[in-house]
Amino acid sequence: MKVGDTHYRSIWLDADGATVRIIDQTRLPHEFEIIGLTTLDQAATAIRDMWVRGAPLIGATAAYGVALAMRGDASDAGLARAIATLGKTRPTAVNLRWALEEMQRLLTPLPEAARLEAAYRRAAEICDEDVAVNAAIGDHGAALIAEISARKGGAPVNILTHCNAGWLATVDWGTATAPIYKAVAQGIAVHVWVDETRPRNQGAHLTAWEMAGHSIPHHLIVDNAGGHLMQHGMVDMVIVGTDRTTATGDVCNKIGTYLKALAAHDNGVPFHVALPSSTIDWRVEDGVRDIPIEERSGDEVSFVQGLLDDAGGGRVTRVRVSPLATPAANPAFDVTPARLVTGLITERGIAEASRDGLAKLFPDRVSP
Ligand code: MRU
Repeated sequence: MKVGDTHYRSIWLDADGATVRIIDQTRLPHEFEIIGLTTLDQAATAIRDMWVRGAPLIGATAAYGVALAMRGDASDAGLARAIATLGKTRPTAVNLRWALEEMQRLLTPLPEAARLEAAYRRAAEICDEDVAVNAAIGDHGAALIAEISARKGGAPVNILTHCNAGWLATVDWGTATAPIYKAVAQGIAVHVWVDETRPRNQGAHLTAWEMAGHSIPHHLIVDNAGGHLMQHGMVDMVIVGTDRTTATGDVCNKIGTYLKALAAHDNGVPFHVALPSSTIDWRVEDGVRDIPIEERSGDEVSFVQGLLDDAGGGRVTRVRVSPLATPAANPAFDVTPARLVTGLITERGIAEASRDGLAKLFPDRVSP
């Protein structure tokens, strides 16, 4: 998507053919800074410290992280170290495991001398595949938005989204935002309610920045406003992303997603989840029981980050919002059971959130 007049992806290979470029997402929306990653450890830090985040982008960065590792040490031990180092960075998004398994399967049988080039090539392919998959998700999801728009006689379709499942969370297009970008391109009027998404405010920092950057009508809301808006008929549909989807259609996404699903269910608002099939974990049946939930630093709750003085010339800083003596807990994701999900928007179409629904669309992937 565009930043100003320039088209960007969220990750790309530098012209030198070796350095991996990313946008430092911890500095948005106030500063747009591009960083170069040249080592395995930098790639691991970028994922762990959330310079890059969002399930598909975590996977793509991990794939490039393996390629960077191959520059220094393409031996079996080097490959094992890369997989182990990257595998420890963030536990919930299954794309990390998916991308690392993909790289391991590809590289292990190759002679050492062939691994570097093969790793860069596959990482680039993973990025290109992600873009194509998200564009397809956008087409399927835009059809849903078009239906609602037609029912409303062309009045703006009010879409609520949580966290950032936008182009910044993927390589391009986003998952939850792809249908929005595609619908807007078709001339459909939309308005987006952007949940701020405490504690890290990915909605306020990233989704709002994306919406503003593409001139899409939107309002930032506090996380607690969604239920109220739904009770008053001000939300036509919810679209969120997912970090891991079970074989039975449970979805694990940013903390607070479950509460939005409950409110949507209570108010008869369709609750859709947009996902590339790489976020389906076919080995997991019960999301609440079996998906590992990342516990992040309590500091993310005790402090908020923002621009000190938005009148101009301000600097990005963080301020404490709770007493020094108060400890904070910070579970980063929650699980929305399949029964609360209206539909899963995938690259192959819209699936019912159930084992049968997913198996019908992905008969080639489902475990026996
Ligand atoms: O902690 P984050 O910012 O990596 O969490 C991101 C999300 O929860 C997204 O909704 C999810 O990864 C889907 S991204 C297309």
